Amino acid sequence: MASPVSLDNPLFARIWIFMSSHETDWLRDRRRENLEGLSGRVLEVGAGTGSNFGFYPETVTEVVAVEPESQLREVATAAAAEAPVPVTVLASTVEALDETQPFDGIVCSLVLCSVEQPEEVLRQLFALLKPGGQLRYFEHVASRGARGGLQRLADATIWPKLFGNCHTHRDTEQMITDTGFTVQTSRRGYQFPAWAPVPVSEFALGAASRPA
Ligand SMILES: C[S@@+](CC[C@H](N)C(=O)[O-])C[C@H]1O[C@@H](n2cnc3c(N)ncnc32)[C@H](O)[C@@H]1O
Repeated sequence: MASPVSLDNPLFARIWIFMSSHETDWLRDRRRENLEGLSGRVLEVGAGTGSNFGFYPETVTEVVAVEPESQLREVATAAAAEAPVPVTVLASTVEALDETQPFDGIVCSLVLCSVEQPEEVLRQLFALLKPGGQLRYFEHVASRGARGGLQRLADATIWPKLFGNCHTHRDTEQMITDTGFTVQTSRRGYQFPAWAPVPVSEFALGAASRPA
């Protein structure tokens, strides 16, 4: 079955527009860190409201950003006009992206939790990246112990419905490695204090290359 081009979700769009207009300095710093050192032509997957756009370094010559949700895309398109580098926002899922020219870099932030088939998407991203190019990722990931249990419960109930198909218990970094990427730098951390019962606290931030 062909992948849909649009994934409209008005409730999630309203929630995300609110959340992304109230981002903390901590989150903005992680976004900046995820993009540091990128250069050339970059694909951004599921750009949301364009929260990353202001942080692209000037060594990036072009950003092609896909965003399948129409309300989010409208906000992202306005953000693109203010970005320090040229950004084009396309109405498409990443699966339906019609692109044959490989990219120097690919950026995923808070999105591999939301795509329907993360392994398939990662295989596609591998193919879309030039050999030697980098996948940058800032993603919340599966935790162990009690938080892992909370994540499984959240994923089986309300969380994906409220947050645009977000699944909190994905072992995203393992999937990145299994796809054939070589992880070059990676660190784990927590966005919230250990006692806070938040399923999306643990994150992975890293750079993985497609072997040359
Ligand atoms: C939680 S938001 C994160 C947005 C943005 N990446 C950020 O860092 O703020 C998840 C985004 O993924 C997008 N998305 C979901 N499935 C997608 C797909 N198959 N292809 C591209 N984007 C997708 C949603 O529309 C949404 O904008």
